[in-house]
Amino acid sequence: MASDKIHDIESESLLPSSTTQSPKHAPQSPAARILLWTSCSLNILFFVLSIFVFVHWTGNNQAIQSSYETGFKSDLDPVKSEVRVIQTTYTGGVEVDEDGHFFTTHSANQYVGKPSPDIDIAWSKLLRGLNIDLDPTSSNLQGRTFAWPESGFAFTGLEVYHSLHCLNRLRQALYPDYYDMFSNPNDPDREDHIGHCINHLRLAIQCHADLTPMEWKLSGNKVVLNTATQHTCRDFEKIDAWAVERRTRFEDIESVKNGSLIVVD
Ligand SMILES: *[C@@H]1O[C@H](CO)[C@@H](O)[C@H](O)[C@H]1NC(C)=O
Repeated sequence: MASDKIHDIESESLLPSSTTQSPKHAPQSPAARILLWTSCSLNILFFVLSIFVFVHWTGNNQAIQSSYETGFKSDLDPVKSEVRVIQTTYTGGVEVDEDGHFFTTHSANQYVGKPSPDIDIAWSKLLRGLNIDLDPTSSNLQGRTFAWPESGFAFTGLEVYHSLHCLNRLRQALYPDYYDMFSNPNDPDREDHIGHCINHLRLAIQCHADLTPMEWKLSGNKVVLNTATQHTCRDFEKIDAWAVERRTRFEDIESVKNGSLIVVD
């Protein structure tokens, strides 16, 4: 206000009285001043409100805007930097030979077939990253999971491994003579545990809803599905390397070693 007054005085004193009639320099009436101030204030208020609304709106849309490539709000925070999207051609399809006989191309697949120590090793390598320990302050896990009494580290893991673990349980259930965890067919828990896994995998498959089209080809009079198609995937190897590096070292946890704590999954 003070500078406005000085300015007014200066313009008046600098201008000859004959030119003060110019509307540009006419002293404003109190009503015009109020109008000018009101419109300026409203403009500023509107601008600030727009910024607020924009920031709030983008914040609320975080769950929608985040993606398969950058991680969702529900994903574990520290692993998001490891997400990389790649294209993979699936292996192990069913094919039909010239005589119309089916054969599978899983000769190179180390995860299926008659149980053997090699198959068990392959699965245990795949599941090395099942359980991980994290510094609870460096993740979005604080207060959400169990913390080891010895280290204070948060005991967690990535859902992809739980699904793989379930799949392995189903595979083992096919061979009750080889894998004794399911050897008693009359065990009432047996069906429950297997049922839990089937349901869990159903949910996981529906959740990820792979939209790759099925490709069929005619072979004689058979219309055969070609499963060796290209899919867009999160690079599991990169995620696996991260998880394995942080795996829970049960062998170093005293309360697990002495049996005072038992992990149930
Ligand atoms: C097992 O180890 C934990 C942690 O060191 C300890 O608190 C607990 O008393 C131990 N329990 C037994 C039965 O030795």
